Amino acid sequence: MRTRAAILHEVGKPWSVEEIDLDPPQRGEVLVRLAAAGMCRSDEHVMTGDLPNRLPVIGGHEGAGIVEEVGEGVESVRPGDHVVFGFIPSCGRCPSCVSGHGNLCDLGAHLADGFQVSDHTARHHLHGEDLALMCLVGSFAEHTVVNEATCIKLPPDAPLDVACLLGCGVVTGWGSAVYAGGIRPGDDVVVVGVGGIGINAVQGAVSAGARHIVAIDPVAFKREQALAFGATHVAADLDDAFELVRDATEGRMAKAVIMSLSTGRGDLVASALKLTGKRGRVVITSIHPVAETEVAMSAWDLSLMEKQVVGSLFGSASPRVDILRLWNLHRAGQLRLDDLITRRYRLDEVNAGYQDLRDGRNLRGIIDFT
Ligand SMILES: NC(=O)c1ccc[n+]([C@@H]2O[C@H](COP(=O)([O-])OP(=O)(O)OC[C@H]3O[C@@H](n4cnc5c(N)ncnc54)[C@H](O)[C@@H]3O)[C@@H](O)[C@H]2O)c1
Ligand SMILES: [Zn+2]
Ligand SMILES: [Zn+2]
Repeated sequence: MRTRAAILHEVGKPWSVEEIDLDPPQRGEVLVRLAAAGMCRSDEHVMTGDLPNRLPVIGGHEGAGIVEEVGEGVESVRPGDHVVFGFIPSCGRCPSCVSGHGNLCDLGAHLADGFQVSDHTARHHLHGEDLALMCLVGSFAEHTVVNEATCIKLPPDAPLDVACLLGCGVVTGWGSAVYAGGIRPGDDVVVVGVGGIGINAVQGAVSAGARHIVAIDPVAFKREQALAFGATHVAADLDDAFELVRDATEGRMAKAVIMSLSTGRGDLVASALKLTGKRGRVVITSIHPVAETEVAMSAWDLSLMEKQVVGSLFGSASPRVDILRLWNLHRAGQLRLDDLITRRYRLDEVNAGYQDLRDGRNLRGIIDFT
């Protein structure tokens, strides 16, 4: 079939919306008509080259839609089902999946390759050239073909525009606080960078029963949004936040500092450790440029205060468990999804959407295909 997709041909070039050829789903694969796609910073990192990926690539790894056709052997979804894509596939069988770490599924090894995990060939083509898929999803397209391992079935009444955010931003942010940060009732928390990820780290801290939640972002609109979603304090800069955190925590500093700024910066880790208390944790969720190899920090803090620096992928959550967990939390009125969407774009407006992301105008922008 023919469909339309936003393609990155070269690092540093804009997304190009073009008509492509899409093959039918093969064994274990699913054809989905997109309803909505979220615009996460990680696609921008592919565009800047900070996150290397096979090119040309169809962008987008947050997405939700309706199943149109399934290949042989697909059992968990059928035509008509509402699905959201997990940006990490989860096979349910590998050691990571069966030990409760679906975010580290062995199929993730194929992420930067971007072709189908079943046989390493492409279903998407432009004038005969094979196209890779961002995170094996490619949601900046009217239709896509993905592996069943990428599809999480939602209840039929789930509105797909808000549901698409569950595939990355919501679970990644919430899990960075709850799972990777290990926040417990009464803990004090700092969230650095209030985008689609950080705002959900604030929501995770609220869910976990944090006492003080300090949100740091240079953009005033982001600080306002953080307060509206449950932050108790805000600051414009990590160093500015030091006294605020010290005074709010009786000098004990934060239990967890979640790093969710646009592009990770090794030089900021020392400041994040200063905001962290004894046995506290700095959680690195931001993607750092692949070429960056240095991180500034005092290892003295690690041995003498037992501070920790940990990384977190997909909020250290399991797509098959936690996407539905957070959907149910939303249905129960305990997690806000609708207010996360600041602006909606047509597929043709994808570059304008990313300009708004760079300009700090959106918590999340989505491409609305309806
Ligand atoms: N680890 C994972 O699984 C995972 C998943 C998705 C996204 N990410 C990464 O998380 C990061 C955040 O993604 P997003 O979509 O929320 O990005 P975003 O651009 O929407 O939001 C980032 C925010 O950080 C703020 N910021 C920039 N520099 C800052 C600084 N020095 N101090 C404080 N705030 C600062 C920006 O103003 C912006 O509001 C990105 O690096 C993204 O690639 C990681
Ligand atoms: Zn993402
Ligand atoms: Zn697996």
